[in-house]
Amino acid sequence: MVPGMGAVATTFMAGVEAVRRGIAEPIGSLTQMGTVRLGKRTEGRSPKIKDFVPLANLKDIVFTGWDIFEDDAYESAMHAGVLEKDLLKKIKPFLKSIKPRKAVFDHEYVKKLDGTHVKKGKNKRDLAEQLRADIRDFHKKSKVDRLVMIWCGSTEIFLKQGAVHESVAAFERGLLKNDDNIAPSMIYAYAALMEGIPFANGAPNLTVDLPVMLELSKKNYAPIAGKDFKTGQTLIKTILAPGFKARMLGLNGWFSTNILGNRDGEVLEDPGSFKTKEESKLSVLEHILQPELYPQLYKDFYHKVRINYYPPRGDNKEGWDNIDIFGWLGYPMQIKVDFLCRDSILAAPIVLDLVLFLDLAKRSTELRGLGIQEWLSFYLKSPMTVPGLYPEHDLFIQLMKLKNTLRHLRGEELITHLGLEYYD
Ligand SMILES: NC(=O)c1ccc[n+]([C@@H]2O[C@H](COP(=O)([O-])OP(=O)(O)OC[C@H]3O[C@@H](n4cnc5c(N)ncnc54)[C@H](O)[C@@H]3O)[C@@H](O)[C@H]2O)c1
Repeated sequence: MVPGMGAVATTFMAGVEAVRRGIAEPIGSLTQMGTVRLGKRTEGRSPKIKDFVPLANLKDIVFTGWDIFEDDAYESAMHAGVLEKDLLKKIKPFLKSIKPRKAVFDHEYVKKLDGTHVKKGKNKRDLAEQLRADIRDFHKKSKVDRLVMIWCGSTEIFLKQGAVHESVAAFERGLLKNDDNIAPSMIYAYAALMEGIPFANGAPNLTVDLPVMLELSKKNYAPIAGKDFKTGQTLIKTILAPGFKARMLGLNGWFSTNILGNRDGEVLEDPGSFKTKEESKLSVLEHILQPELYPQLYKDFYHKVRINYYPPRGDNKEGWDNIDIFGWLGYPMQIKVDFLCRDSILAAPIVLDLVLFLDLAKRSTELRGLGIQEWLSFYLKSPMTVPGLYPEHDLFIQLMKLKNTLRHLRGEELITHLGLEYYD
């Protein structure tokens, strides 16, 4: 179930169908293509992840979504222009069958958008109840056993955690009073968690990153993960920065700029939505480089991130990075990265993996009561953690954490990479 049936959501849906029909490969999906090494390097045991843990099969996935526009998944995918028309035409009846439900939406939270396919209600509580009714309706009609919700809606304006988010009781009072600090995405998250359904947040909005949601998640055994899909420039950042730190290379500055022309880019032109995104993108380097531990290398590095809406590019973003590093005796060097990427192509496999892993977490007695699924940080720009714990941003540590979680679930030995035993 996907609130927001735009570029990412439809690329995900169309991609799953194309893979099911054998007309494309699920490139970029760890659950579909990845392996996990078990035991010693000499044992040669590396099953596919999907054969190692009981993940749902792609053929059993059924989709629904919500949007403020009435376009079905076919029309929306054509509008997004990510996938080739030829591919979309091959799966047209499937995509046409996914029609968005009316959204819970308020222009105040996404200033660049306005739509008519929107629910009306007495108050936010009423809107939450309408979403819960949608969820039950989909559950009944689709005849699926289990559900997962993943936010692929637009980035909302920057909001801070406040008193209304402190507990379920405060949040429910806030829903009745139409509290301004309750954004639409939070109403979806609340509805899902009340129904005991796992929720992932692909945008940088607060949404589930709140005490109320953690409380509900634990109480109703509905795992949560967020926030902000790690694609494009931030993905590259979390690949390069751990390398600099590993080799004790210093950083003077990192200037990142993007041009993109999709609807996401248009929404991010609004300063409120951009601030939400900026916060998410900026925190990455601080956490990876740990200036407090390495002041000679990383104290006071300059970090700037810019996003520019440039319509001709559509979804095919261009991300430039200028990186000023320094080496032995402080001698400066520069690295330039020009990544001609496709945002939704990078995001779609993340959506799939998050859905399958959250569904696994829901079925795991060990994971389902934990609330935040930190082992899924691998997929996210601003990984959620329990209060007081700093997030792990290094992609390779995140991958190790994910795979070790899977090994742990199946009672396999964790891999530490110590390796002394080979030399006994
Ligand atoms: N593509 C990426 O690489 C990437 C990476 C990280 C995060 N994200 C985030 O994922 C989200 C989706 O990206 P996209 O490129 O598909 O954007 P998009 O603009 O194509 O799609 C978002 C859709 O959400 C809908 N929407 C907005 N508010 C809604 C609401 N309250 N209820 C239901 N629908 C609503 C919009 O009408 C739109 O169709 C954005 O928030 C984006 O910032 C994308």
